[in-house]
Amino acid sequence: MLISNIFHYVGVATTCYWAIQLARYVYCYIRSSSLPRYNPTGKDAWALITGANDGIGFGFAEELSERGFNVFLHGRNREKLSRRQEELQTKFPNIKYKVIVSDAANIHENINLTPNEIGDANLTILVNNVGGEKQSYRGLTELSYQDVRTTINTNATFMTQITRVLLPVLERNGPSLVLNVSSIAAYGMPFVPVYSATKGFVDSFSRALDAEVKARGQDVEVLAIRVGSVRSQSNDVDVGLMVPDSRTMAAASLERVGCGIPLIFGYWGHAIAGLSLDFIPRPFMVKMLANTMDSLKKQAEERQAKRN
Ligand SMILES: NC(=O)c1ccc[n+]([C@@H]2O[C@H](COP(=O)([O-])OP(=O)(O)OC[C@H]3O[C@@H](n4cnc5c(N)ncnc54)[C@H](OP(=O)(O)O)[C@@H]3O)[C@@H](O)[C@H]2O)c1
Repeated sequence: MLISNIFHYVGVATTCYWAIQLARYVYCYIRSSSLPRYNPTGKDAWALITGANDGIGFGFAEELSERGFNVFLHGRNREKLSRRQEELQTKFPNIKYKVIVSDAANIHENINLTPNEIGDANLTILVNNVGGEKQSYRGLTELSYQDVRTTINTNATFMTQITRVLLPVLERNGPSLVLNVSSIAAYGMPFVPVYSATKGFVDSFSRALDAEVKARGQDVEVLAIRVGSVRSQSNDVDVGLMVPDSRTMAAASLERVGCGIPLIFGYWGHAIAGLSLDFIPRPFMVKMLANTMDSLKKQAEERQAKRN
């Protein structure tokens, strides 16, 4: 009798726990974003987006411009940045833009000078978007020393260092937001081992920094957005229900701001894909991921062959 009562209460408690977690998660997708908090009227707020030349980063630039933020566009190619700046300026004539040029893959100590480039602009948002993997579909031993270094620098080191130097600015201008772009690859995908690991770093760095700023009583929100497949410069796939375009992805990410969960899928379709990974037993998941990577590799090769 006692044992069956214990099982009964454990069952009820577990069901309540999962119901609350699910409700909290669903709430994040139906509530209104807290983004306007970071652009109070008359304060002329700025956002800095890394890797803003293309793909999701450019999507963030468009979406933040539409929401009234001035934008620092970061990229490695000055000429392309200028073209992008002109394009945005034509579309959003009331918004101010500035460019910051540096190669995230070859990060140097002069990253410490970034606050000088910000000057007295009221920076309230940092979007750490730059990232990706140039050597997709290769096993660890097929990568060179330089491949590994490039992937770690571009996805993890640059984000950490630019956040380190800009956090005092963001704290001074609070309330402010650090939005870090992560990936479904953080689950641990075969044939992108280093990239997967850097996105795991993004996740745990974001959680740790969120805890740290809260512990220090700072009004800075730290949010990691997990991303699944998105059509972008580096991911030439067809847009569909589960594959948004870059601007839709950026808009969905901004909708999650202020939801109270520091690590979340930005787009609802990716959330469904991500949650299903949590429930599939590991041996099946490994097989499924290997098959998925294999078919993505074939698709990429076919597209490349068509282009040549
Ligand atoms: N697309 C997806 O399916 C997907 C899935 C999961 C996660 N993500 C994440 O989403 C973020 C954006 O990805 P995306 O697909 O939008 O990428 P993308 O289309 O390739 O755009 C990346 C942007 O970053 C810039 N960039 C790349 N390497 C750089 C470097 N070393 N220094 C400075 N700028 C650099 C690129 O500049 P250039 O224009 O000069 O090339 C480009 O503007 C990344 O963090 C990626 O890991 C994307």
